[in-house]
Amino acid sequence: MSQDVSSLAVIGAGTMGSGITLVAATSGIDAIQIDVSSDQLDRAKSYHAKVLARNVEKGRMTESDRDAALARISYVDDMAKAASADWAVEAATENPEVKEKIFASMASTFSADTVLATNTSSISITRIATATGNAADRVVGMHFFNPVPVMKLVEVIKGLATSDQTVERTIALAERMGKTPILANDRAGFVSNRVLMPMINEAFFAWMEGVAEPAAIDDIMTLGCNFPMGPLRLADFIGLDVCHDIMMVLYRELGDQKFFPCPLLRQLVTAGRLGDKTGHGVFEH
Ligand code: CAA
Repeated sequence: MSQDVSSLAVIGAGTMGSGITLVAATSGIDAIQIDVSSDQLDRAKSYHAKVLARNVEKGRMTESDRDAALARISYVDDMAKAASADWAVEAATENPEVKEKIFASMASTFSADTVLATNTSSISITRIATATGNAADRVVGMHFFNPVPVMKLVEVIKGLATSDQTVERTIALAERMGKTPILANDRAGFVSNRVLMPMINEAFFAWMEGVAEPAAIDDIMTLGCNFPMGPLRLADFIGLDVCHDIMMVLYRELGDQKFFPCPLLRQLVTAGRLGDKTGHGVFEH
């Protein structure tokens, strides 16, 4: 396995995928942004231009560095067009069946040296790896945080068959991308979401039981615990559907009632109030 990453394919041009692409490009890596939706690719392209323009405006980057970063990104609608990439990160929908299908095609599309990483926030790496047949040693969790250009952490997750070499290379790549990698084992929600999501879920219970209004719950946590955003604002930011789905993964995999999503969270998701992305969640945006 060669050690240097010169090109990185990012599958999925949503919030996380477009953030990963941008950070790769600003770290000197050729980034291939893949999505079947041309609208999604257009949104990613505007996002990249906007953040880089802000970096120039703030004096964090020269205009020529911005142009070089933009020139490193290509946008394609088919994974086959990125087949020569020596690293691939999947950042598609948080659904196990969807991820299994994508990983089966990743294993047959990319070369036998390519690391196949997933940005999953809670799904078992071992399960995803199993869908690749004999490439499981090259499958690893590479969990970035939103907004990717700002958040420092990459949670690196080793599946049952992930090789030590794959883990070492993932740590090296995360560092090259300016992130701090921290290892976690392959249990539902890993560390980040096993701790974060029950806290968010509890904030919904506090609201449902009338302990305080949503704005007060958030103010208590921002002013009293120094959170940058209160748990309910953060839930809107992450997406209430995503929070709900992660709670369900924790509940099913760990088998404890304490992980069952709050009925009010379930109800908001049923009503299509998903947070920032729909303009209305706990709060109106
Ligand atoms: N992309 C790039 N840069 C962004 C950005 C984005 N989407 N959003 C904000 N920024 C930048 C802004 O440009 C700004 O930088 P400059 O002004 O220097 O250019 C800086 O971040 C701060 O932004 P703002 O001033 O607009 O607002 P803020 O100070 O309130 O910070 C925040 C915004 C960084 C999002 C902050 O509120 C925060 O850290 N919130 C918590 C985020 C968090 O917990 N994320 C993890 C979610 S969990 C997850 O991702 C994993 C999972 O599995 C669910």
